[in-house]
Amino acid sequence: MPGVSLVGSGSACLTVPLTNADLSQRVDTSDEWILTRTGIRQRHIAAAADSLASLAAEAARHALTMAELGAEEVDLILLATSTPDDLFGTACQVQAALGATRAVAFDLTAACSGFVFALVTAAQYIRTGVFKHVVVIGADVLSRWTNWDDRTTCVLFGDGAGAVVLRAADRDRLLGFELCSDGTLNHCLNLAYRAQAAPLVGDVAVQQGSFAPITMNGREVYKFAINRVPEVIEKALFRASLTTAEIDWLVLHQANQRILDAVASRLNVAPERVVSNMDRHGNTSAASIPIALDEAVRAGQIKSGDVVATAGFGAGLTWGAAIVQWG
Ligand code: UT7
Repeated sequence: MPGVSLVGSGSACLTVPLTNADLSQRVDTSDEWILTRTGIRQRHIAAAADSLASLAAEAARHALTMAELGAEEVDLILLATSTPDDLFGTACQVQAALGATRAVAFDLTAACSGFVFALVTAAQYIRTGVFKHVVVIGADVLSRWTNWDDRTTCVLFGDGAGAVVLRAADRDRLLGFELCSDGTLNHCLNLAYRAQAAPLVGDVAVQQGSFAPITMNGREVYKFAINRVPEVIEKALFRASLTTAEIDWLVLHQANQRILDAVASRLNVAPERVVSNMDRHGNTSAASIPIALDEAVRAGQIKSGDVVATAGFGAGLTWGAAIVQWG
């Protein structure tokens, strides 16, 4: 059975920062509250010229360059996003922008777990021998759907895109994974469609509404994260026949610095082994793990052969972990 190797990473460079001080001009909050409760100093907001597709394509281009792979060699593009440019899917626009003429492309939605779910999904196509080169992208523009008058959510989110290139290899570097969902907790975090009935003809009415802003029960999601994330990482490690002591880097979904600290402490992973860019990017949903991974690789922290434990968690509710060996 072919294995999976991770041979390139990339992220999009967003240039419009929104600081805590900026936000405190809009809602009743402060730099001190946001920093101590979340670890966030600033986040980036997509510019008018940016689209989800353009950010995703930029991240993918950087990843392909690192992998020294031409776009025409890509077999599959998997785009994890909850904020598509087009509800029919945005991955095909990314395929066209990249010139990945041979690739099939589709979207996958699992909110902040999207990148981990997409990584594991992509790996199955490689393991079965169907595809050789896959680009996995996590990208979100949550600023489109944030209620900018709700201080309990608007201080958390930012926009971004990150990507990795997977290649078929003799030795499998996806060492273990575990994916979970619990729809009974769906109400804790939503970006829900709100229908409005509009009479059409006779007794027939159509339901044409729009998506409501993000709503979240922060305390419930916080409790869920600090309990379920260590557990799911331990299950993935068990499948990989590894222990927490063998984790070189913990790359978690960047939701809150307090969550990163709590998970690391429960797993007994030293703080210097925890990758965090919370202060600069905030929570970029499906993009947060590949951006953190890419920054750590380019900074020379994550090196070839390092064992990286990644875990995503969020709306659905969904959560999942993948243990990979970089390079
Ligand atoms: O990516 C998806 C996953 N999402 C997450 O992982 C989010 C998980 N949850 C969290 O990270 C945290 O629960 C938050 C950062 C959202 C909130 O932190 P918290 O320590 O749980 O605060 P809280 O909700 O318990 O609120 C404490 C107080 C409240 O005031 P009272 O009721 O004690 O008077 C809030 O009204 O802080 C108030 N508050 C704020 N104050 C200033 C809430 N938001 C703000 C704000 N600025 N932005």
